[in-house]
Amino acid sequence: MCGIAGYIGIKPAKEILLDSLSRLEYRGYDSCGIAVRGSPLTIFKGTSRVGHLRLQSPELGGTIGIGHTRWATHGEVSAANAHPHTDCHHKIAVVHNGIISNYRELRKLLKDEGHTFRSETDSEVLPHLVEKFYRGDIESALRQALGLIEGTYAVLAVTEHEDRVVAARNGSPLVVGVCSDGFIFASDVLGIGAQAESIVYLEDGDIAICDKRQIKITNEGKTVQRIPSSVHLNALMIEKGGFEHYMLKEINEQPEVVRACLRAYSDPPRFRNQLIFDSTTDSLTLTACGTSYHAAEVGKFIIEELTGIPVRLEIASEIRHRPTIIKTAKAIGLSQSGETADVLTSLKRMKEAGIETIALTNVFQSSISRIADDTIYIPAGPEVAVAATKTFVAQIIALIKLALAHQSVDRTMRDQINLELERIPHKIQQILDNRHLIKQATSLVAAADQVFFIAKGVNVPIALEGALKAKEIAYINAEGFCAGELKHGPFALLSPSSTVIAIIAGDENQASITASVREIQARKSKVVCITRENDSTFNDSTDNILRIPSTHRLLSPILNAVVVQLLAYYTAEARGCPIDFPRNLAKSVTVE
Ligand code: F6R
Repeated sequence: MCGIAGYIGIKPAKEILLDSLSRLEYRGYDSCGIAVRGSPLTIFKGTSRVGHLRLQSPELGGTIGIGHTRWATHGEVSAANAHPHTDCHHKIAVVHNGIISNYRELRKLLKDEGHTFRSETDSEVLPHLVEKFYRGDIESALRQALGLIEGTYAVLAVTEHEDRVVAARNGSPLVVGVCSDGFIFASDVLGIGAQAESIVYLEDGDIAICDKRQIKITNEGKTVQRIPSSVHLNALMIEKGGFEHYMLKEINEQPEVVRACLRAYSDPPRFRNQLIFDSTTDSLTLTACGTSYHAAEVGKFIIEELTGIPVRLEIASEIRHRPTIIKTAKAIGLSQSGETADVLTSLKRMKEAGIETIALTNVFQSSISRIADDTIYIPAGPEVAVAATKTFVAQIIALIKLALAHQSVDRTMRDQINLELERIPHKIQQILDNRHLIKQATSLVAAADQVFFIAKGVNVPIALEGALKAKEIAYINAEGFCAGELKHGPFALLSPSSTVIAIIAGDENQASITASVREIQARKSKVVCITRENDSTFNDSTDNILRIPSTHRLLSPILNAVVVQLLAYYTAEARGCPIDFPRNLAKSVTVE
């Protein structure tokens, strides 16, 4: 949660910091701020978005600075709670991402010593602690301050007195971009942008002190070398590429993402599926949150059907306080960001219970890959929109490929699915090319009092995902159900002002879901059917039919996912919602 940025070099820092923060805004966008070194240290912060801060702040010549974009955890959304925070005399500025769990005790101690606090945040103890220990050396003062901190942090600090930036990491990610003109610090590589020559990933316990020419990293007081990684980002990956929103761009990238997955997972050394699904794997747990959890639900269905291996699903946010961990041979934690605190905790608990753990993530060297015994990366490229889309589809492909790699899968079935997987990018493209038809259907969603997504079998998670997307970006009161469950309660909610989206895969459930649709129509709710191009069951009998290409029934969630993503997108657009930055949310949820 929250993005931090820093720069030291020969160019004016302000623009570099603001560019970096605008790319990090997806991590939190309640408030933002920058501190640029000069005499005095200049701080600009407020509850606006980064674009507004850019307009408000004057020209600043300083070439050293730090910045922050916030998702509020401790303290309301206010200018006072925005970072950077400073010491009593505004000589030291600090930005922090993470949680300081003993901040109340530290605050009291500092107050008793005469420090005055201006915010309600846990983070503000940091500049005051640095002030307490500062004797002309920011690195030493920060080191002493961190010695008193309990919790997690990625921290950047500057002072009016020194030409240096000090950075520290413990539990919250922090990377350094090595550029020809200086160094950029950021919460993740998106914040570094495309101009860095290489990237240094700081490790937990690292403290980096950086002047305009060099960086020195220490850990537990000893100098350490961190091997720089090459930069995999290009400008196209981190810009909107002509689309109005990142979400639409990322939905449109899905044909290419599927191709990238198929390439990556056909190369055994990179996708160590045999290792993960060997003959000893007699049970499996999948743990995740939100959209990643829905991918896990699709995965459970497919793995169980193809391999017969029982798969447990664990909502990661439920694990922390649960007394018992049910043991399975292996556990996979799915997390796009690789930073979701609940997933990290869940995987740690499974590891402690003796389960072999695997991370499935989109972010190279993210926290989850440090916890897990092994990591499978999904090659979806950076996902900026808060609403996950392309990474959901990539997670499903990864799980399908894992299942197919198991020795027990029927060979004919494996061949059929593999063949059909090759056709999926083209079929997604067909849906994208006909997106105007989906856009037309959104009037029935945008105007409804409540929206229900229903499905059966392997598509039930897509009903849940469709409802999540509609809630998240279009602020629609939406719920997803197994179609057959409607009559066991939710039917009471149906009225002429509700709309039901029925996802029909043309599988063994056709008769049953058709019956559900008829029952809904009898209650006068509006019905939109998402069905296959050759399905004549609903000809002209529902309020709208969205026909999509036919596919193997186990792959139908992929195509249906694209439809519900577009439905949510165009509904949000019709309702004038801030699609990429929905209220109260952030892309990676690094708090419990
Ligand atoms: C919804 C969404 C969230 C995330 C969830 C887990 O569109 O993006 O529900 O799926 O917060 O995030 P990761 O996958 O990063 O662990």
